[in-house]
Amino acid sequence: FGLLGYDPGFLNTASCKSSITFIDGDRGILRYRGYPIEQLAEHSTFLETAYLLIKGELPDQERLAQWTYNIRHHTMTHSNLVKFMDGFRYDAHPMGILVGTVGALSTFYPDAKDIGNVDSRKLQIRRLIGKIPTLAAMSFRHSMGFPYVQPDNDLSFSGNFLSMMFRMTELRYTPNPVLERALDVLFILHADHEQNCSTNAVRAVGSSGVDPYTAVAAGCAALYGPKHGGANEAVIRMLMEIGSVDRVPEFIKSVKAGSGRLMGFGHRVYKNYDPRAKIIKKIAFEVFEETGRSPLLDIALELEKIALEDDYFISRKLYPNVDFYSGLIYQAMGFPMDMFPVLFAIGRIPGWLSQWSEHVRDTDQKIARPRQIYLGEGERDWVAVDSRP
Ligand code: CMC
Repeated sequence: FGLLGYDPGFLNTASCKSSITFIDGDRGILRYRGYPIEQLAEHSTFLETAYLLIKGELPDQERLAQWTYNIRHHTMTHSNLVKFMDGFRYDAHPMGILVGTVGALSTFYPDAKDIGNVDSRKLQIRRLIGKIPTLAAMSFRHSMGFPYVQPDNDLSFSGNFLSMMFRMTELRYTPNPVLERALDVLFILHADHEQNCSTNAVRAVGSSGVDPYTAVAAGCAALYGPKHGGANEAVIRMLMEIGSVDRVPEFIKSVKAGSGRLMGFGHRVYKNYDPRAKIIKKIAFEVFEETGRSPLLDIALELEKIALEDDYFISRKLYPNVDFYSGLIYQAMGFPMDMFPVLFAIGRIPGWLSQWSEHVRDTDQKIARPRQIYLGEGERDWVAVDSRP
């Protein structure tokens, strides 16, 4: 096979050079453009973090105001896109709707094909960040049979999303400030994570020179898979299956015996506490203070406590990851489980776009085209159908 390297899942292959996100999995460090995730979660907003990821620096006040205005300017959708949305089956999965409608945006904005034009790239980035919460909320309301809610651009990014999700009357929706901030921080925590499956999909598809809507639809498609966007739902299902705190030791024992995995534990890169999980755990308590405590939280706390003291988990460096508490928070906020990957996609959009933009500008890059190790038949002759064994 000559000099071909064999690396399934690209565990040991760097597909790009990047200046966006730094992860040190052994020390539990995550930084966007050099800024520790803990500081961004405490002080920043999602839109400011999106600016940082895409442009490389934090904005001053004037730039932030202009950026916020620009994103708000793009929250509406074309009325034909609403018709397209209406065409999905009544019980369509919101993530399936998102994959389709984000891809469809490329047909509404043919100017996006001009990826060599820096002004066009900037415009498509603003459009996508502005529109994704609208499409996400519409996908939920379609799947519930509720009428769509127009964006309320006087609200914050996350407040407007909550309004488009949950507004039920003509009266203006006022988001609970604790839940609004918690959601904004959750979006910050999901905003980028270097070359994860969906980002790799965006880069690989984008390397063909396709427009960013189509490349981002590929990212959404990757996130639809249960191994990527579905882990927090799996955590909720696991906690429901355990059912009560006193059954936790028995469940841990069965995991150690090989019955299955402790969902929300372990990570390909983090061999230490996932820094996002620490922040999310704190948010969970703040949110439950407002919404009332879910009995599943007590099961999760007990699971974490026992697992962190158990040799099986210690020796394999298995710690809670970002998904361990995030589903519990989303559930407390009123999101159904099939919206969890959609929420992930809203958070990840600035990461996908900054990575796409970096990829397009990288003169080292080529169309993604890995090789393979062929294990099939050697050459053989075609045989007529009536002579085949
Ligand atoms: N529960 C029990 N045992 C586990 C777990 C777990 N959650 N994760 C790994 N192990 C064991 C595994 O059985 C193996 O044991 P042994 O050496 O005896 O065979 C050892 O730990 C190493 O496992 P691995 O599969 O080689 O580890 P990996 O780095 O390839 O897997 C993972 C990472 C996230 C796929 C895995 O930890 C897992 O399946 N976790 C549960 C699912 C989950 O929470 N996924 C969300 C990940 S974070 C999402 C994100 O950042 O976007």
